[in-house]
Amino acid sequence: TWTSANIVDEQVELIRQQVGDARVISALSGGVDSAVSTALVQKAIGDQLTAVFVDHGLLRQGEAEQVRQDYVAATGVDLKVVDAKDQFLGFLEGVTDPEEKRKIIGREFIRTFEAAEREVLATPGAPVRFLVQGTLYPDVVESGGGEGAANIKSHHNVGGLPEDLEFSLIEPLRTLFKDEVRQVGRQLGIPEAIVSRHPFPGPGLAIRIVGAVSEERLEILRRADAIVREETTAAGLDSEIWQFPVVLLADVRSVGVQGDGRTYGHPIVLRPVSSEDAMTADWSRLPYELLERISTRITNEVDEVNRVVLDVTSKPPGTIEWE
Ligand code: XMP
Repeated sequence: TWTSANIVDEQVELIRQQVGDARVISALSGGVDSAVSTALVQKAIGDQLTAVFVDHGLLRQGEAEQVRQDYVAATGVDLKVVDAKDQFLGFLEGVTDPEEKRKIIGREFIRTFEAAEREVLATPGAPVRFLVQGTLYPDVVESGGGEGAANIKSHHNVGGLPEDLEFSLIEPLRTLFKDEVRQVGRQLGIPEAIVSRHPFPGPGLAIRIVGAVSEERLEILRRADAIVREETTAAGLDSEIWQFPVVLLADVRSVGVQGDGRTYGHPIVLRPVSSEDAMTADWSRLPYELLERISTRITNEVDEVNRVVLDVTSKPPGTIEWE
């Protein structure tokens, strides 16, 4: 019978056999899949694992802290945090094209992770032979790999490392669906704020700012986004919503009025969607009372924002993200 406890026991046993006394590296992104796969490996082999968290400064309010503090406290993972905020912001300066943003972030992420990897490789101890990946069953099916329960595949030439060094991937979530991964995460004691997190794009808030990314703009968006999450959670609607992007139209200004004065601020777009797999999506019919609370709070509490608009486009023709 399927229970999250059985899955944990089974995987722990399997990982121990496969890893032996070698060492393992894992990348934490702040998302559910990497958090759960890393915690599973930690449970199996403890200090033989080093997790790397590249903080690119594009996560939402409080999320980096949740990884650095709560996740580490709950799992005991040996975490290496790389603060790369300035580096990412520097490379993104003035960039407005969405695909260009993605390319820069992807490139810098790999570069930063590899530098951290080399540092781990240079520390004394058993050789590092494995990388953890949070691949889920739907990803396995999509990529045509149907080897069932086999959760290790050989992986040559991890970029930036010596050519003759052979890494294998550990993919302990290969047979699981997202909701099962969440159950396993709870079983492992991972904080609920991480386990129940909605899908979030790798390039993070950079593709939720329409226009160039800057620290000021990120801060505006983080504050608006935090209000949206607070109110949606308080309304008990998190599990009914697939994803709730909050988007800052940084190059758009509109006229508003506040007190005796005219304002000239930015719009925030609310993009709550329901979906099964993100391939298609419908806009969520949220209660008007919730939308009203979100709108009132954002325009009151975030000075630079004077207008809140709701995206009522399905996918297709719209995408979930705005960029
Ligand atoms: P779209 O906007 O194409 O998004 O409807 C579909 C799903 O993919 C996520 N998304 C991304 N995830 N890197 C990611 O890791 C990306 O560049 C990226 N772009 C979109 C989006 O959040 C949604 O879940």
